[in-house]
Amino acid sequence: CITGTLDAYNRRINYLRISVTDRCNLRCVYCSDGGLDHLSHNDILSYEEIAAVTRVAASMGVRHIRLTGGEPLVRPALSNLIKLLTVIPNIDDVSLTTNGTLLKTQAADLKKAGLKRINVSLDSLLPDRFARITGGEQLDRVFEGIEEAHRVGLSPIKVNMVVMPGINDDEITSFAQKAKYEGWHVRFIEYMPFEGSDNSKVLSVAEIKDRIEAENGQLWACCISGAGPANYYSFGSGQGTIGFIRPISHRFCGQCNRLRLTADGKLRPCLLNDTELDLKNVIRRGGTEQDIKDLLLQAVMAKPERHNLEEMAVGGRQMRQIGG
Ligand code: GTP
Ligand code: 5AD
Ligand code: SF4
Repeated sequence: CITGTLDAYNRRINYLRISVTDRCNLRCVYCSDGGLDHLSHNDILSYEEIAAVTRVAASMGVRHIRLTGGEPLVRPALSNLIKLLTVIPNIDDVSLTTNGTLLKTQAADLKKAGLKRINVSLDSLLPDRFARITGGEQLDRVFEGIEEAHRVGLSPIKVNMVVMPGINDDEITSFAQKAKYEGWHVRFIEYMPFEGSDNSKVLSVAEIKDRIEAENGQLWACCISGAGPANYYSFGSGQGTIGFIRPISHRFCGQCNRLRLTADGKLRPCLLNDTELDLKNVIRRGGTEQDIKDLLLQAVMAKPERHNLEEMAVGGRQMRQIGG
């Protein structure tokens, strides 16, 4: 059914991405400048505060919640938050985007707490390259995490690969083969150049799709569950799918359905726009549900018509502070 608060451009906002921490156990090149400045415990919203915001958001038509980071699984006892969120009336989809390194030990608890599905960020299948991109040595842990998530029944599991020309674009075919032969759901994401707009680092989805089809045969449009901007394809046989996310070559802002909540309690109307509204301040000053609702509504109305990557301030928030 169709729900969500209408914004100024007639878009229905029914998806809230919640960053639960700005901390991460990796340092991906596109996400973090490697700095170690982190929010302190008191700066970040508690699980109860996040649940309170989610309850109000649900009353405004939000149906999908995605937990992000930093790396969400570094925050202690994340499954306690999931338990609080999955019992909120009308929240029918709680999911998580993770780097997968801590999944092996947590997948069963997450599933038990009510999590349905996960997206795993993975930009290389080669150990040395994985280490260069992420600053970490845990590629095997990610594979084990994906296996365990599959075993406990988290489904679908989508793998997000950010395509970076000259860095990992030679692995497009290897990832596509994971979909074709091993049933993975692989999504290729156009790299979003933060900090200025060096579009030379972007390989468009059209080129990525051409390369996949040249090596693996024609792709056929299909669907899998999800609430985001990806378009999905299959090889016509087999269980796996290929998804494409095109923030650069085809802005999907016209179909945008989401708000973001940062770990430090700021409502961010658009990923690629620096505007933020301070919800933590409203909550900690004893704001009522109506006050929270008013600020959520303000954030919905502050959503720009489209992103403008070129105009983002240099030195603004890093991805690990927003949650992608
Ligand atoms: P589902 O479709 O529900 O599985 O999730 P999703 O694709 O919305 O979530 P995920 O966290 O896996 O995000 C995938 C990619 O889409 C990431 O690279 C995000 O940065 C990018 N993305 C998500 N939302 C937006 C958005 O509002 N604007 C832009 N430009 N990119 C986005
Ligand atoms: N461009 C494209 N995708 C990005 N992500 C993080 N930073 C960028 C960027 N600059 C992706 C991560 C993760 C998702 C939440 O966002 O790989 O899968
Ligand atoms: Fe960590 Fe994800 Fe950022 Fe990589 S993209 S540094 S895994 S938060």
